[in-house]
Amino acid sequence: MSIDYSVKTGRPEKQRSGCIVLPVFKDGELSSIAGAFDQMTGESLSTFLARGDFRGEAGDVAFLYDIARAASDRIMLVGMGEKGKLGFRDFKKAAAAAAIRLDQSGATDAANYLATAESEALSLAQKVRELVISSENAFYKFDTYQTSKDNDKKRRKFRRMTLFVTRRAETAAAETAMQQGVAIADGMALAKDLANTPPNVCNPSWLATQARKLGRKHRKLKVEVLDEKQIEKLGMGAFHAVSKGSKQPGKLITMEYNGTGKKTAKPIVLVGKGITFDTGGISIKPSAKMDEMKFDMGGAASVFGVIQACAQLELPIHVVGAIAAAENMPDGGASRPGDIVKTLSGQTVEILNTDAEGRLVLCDTLTYIKKYEPETVIDIATLTGACIVALGHVASGMLCNDREVGDALLEASRNIDDRIWELPLWDDYAEQLKSNFADVANIGSPGAGTITAASFLSKFTEDYRWAHLDIAGTAWKSNSDKGATGRPVPLLMEYILGQMD
Ligand code: BES
Ligand code: MN
Ligand code: ZN
Repeated sequence: MSIDYSVKTGRPEKQRSGCIVLPVFKDGELSSIAGAFDQMTGESLSTFLARGDFRGEAGDVAFLYDIARAASDRIMLVGMGEKGKLGFRDFKKAAAAAAIRLDQSGATDAANYLATAESEALSLAQKVRELVISSENAFYKFDTYQTSKDNDKKRRKFRRMTLFVTRRAETAAAETAMQQGVAIADGMALAKDLANTPPNVCNPSWLATQARKLGRKHRKLKVEVLDEKQIEKLGMGAFHAVSKGSKQPGKLITMEYNGTGKKTAKPIVLVGKGITFDTGGISIKPSAKMDEMKFDMGGAASVFGVIQACAQLELPIHVVGAIAAAENMPDGGASRPGDIVKTLSGQTVEILNTDAEGRLVLCDTLTYIKKYEPETVIDIATLTGACIVALGHVASGMLCNDREVGDALLEASRNIDDRIWELPLWDDYAEQLKSNFADVANIGSPGAGTITAASFLSKFTEDYRWAHLDIAGTAWKSNSDKGATGRPVPLLMEYILGQMD
């Protein structure tokens, strides 16, 4: 994490802090904590609000200085939107706005009271966790490759945020939520760092090195790497058909975290698409925005983030992360449209389009991980442009072969506001994948591209409970705020935490 967090109780006017952050609802309606502060400081807030400069829309911010009877240098009022209607959206906006303005201010620490804002929709734990996640998101920077000397000067002055709760009895629960928030935010930052790293650095071998590094940091984390020769030898013909078109050898990376103390506990297995650059191969992509295909390992990056978060929290669970890492390039060894390959499952695949490479590396990895006897398998992949057509950049696509897993993911999605939307996996769609020459083709006839991709994968996941997340539209942002988002680390962590109780 980039700053320190802690949990406390206490009256705002008494805090000796660089900044007191108080929630205020729309049209100047005071939250109870802001009301108490107002009374103790001779109606300082009502007097200011009466001037009408502060609307209290979610994310509005105003600073007040020199308040008599307050022990702090600054007061920051943060708009929370309409009273009685505080939900995730507005809370996130408020938390992020506060963090950004604190970072720009002269304060080095803050007493943040936003989690005391009244909300029927949000629990205290949700608010505390989101304060940490939104703040860390606001503070995140990826400037490893910017050599400008000003970077030194830009170093963060703001170092400490104390999260206030109303009652003593709430502090233990809030501390747990805070630690979860920190682990999730750190996991997102790791996922973003990996995905933002340029593709001339972030190749399959580099990802393997990052996995080994993570493994050395946590005693209960075991990392193994299969190299390209082993991938070929084991019979993963589909995986190899992708990696052999690049000078960079493919890697199948597994990270096993077992915090249960029992060897026999069946694991949740997370499978990440780790295409470190997707040119399309011989079915080459057009040049526009091709740089963004460095993010085609966003699924793998999120698996790294989740494994790190589980290890950091020392959760009593068994989780395996499996990364299918390869570079999709059109060199002399590349697969051709029309090639037929044999998968680890024994099924043959006709490669009609080498740009449908994600499902090729994934299908063999989904077969390989059967050796862990998984309790549930979730794969995470920037799999189809069609998913952006269907859901834009708002929701990840979700398809599953098991109602319980699907419902648990949908619930987790609502609890942490990391949106997913389910698409149907009816067998009608499998018709579109028929091949004249092999058991299955790697692309479907036109229409429903996200579903036919999932349908292809479903032929390799029949032996276990499985869900697929298509994060093509949500793993990164384009244009001026180009960069990885760290999604769906929050969703997966909420799902995993939900499996524990
Ligand atoms: N990595 C891409 C999917 C993608 C494209 C994600 C653009 C985000 C933005 C994937 O490997 C791919 O190329 N998919 C093809 C599949 C098609 C050939 C059936 C696609 O979506 O066009
Ligand atoms: Mn592709
Ligand atoms: Zn791809």
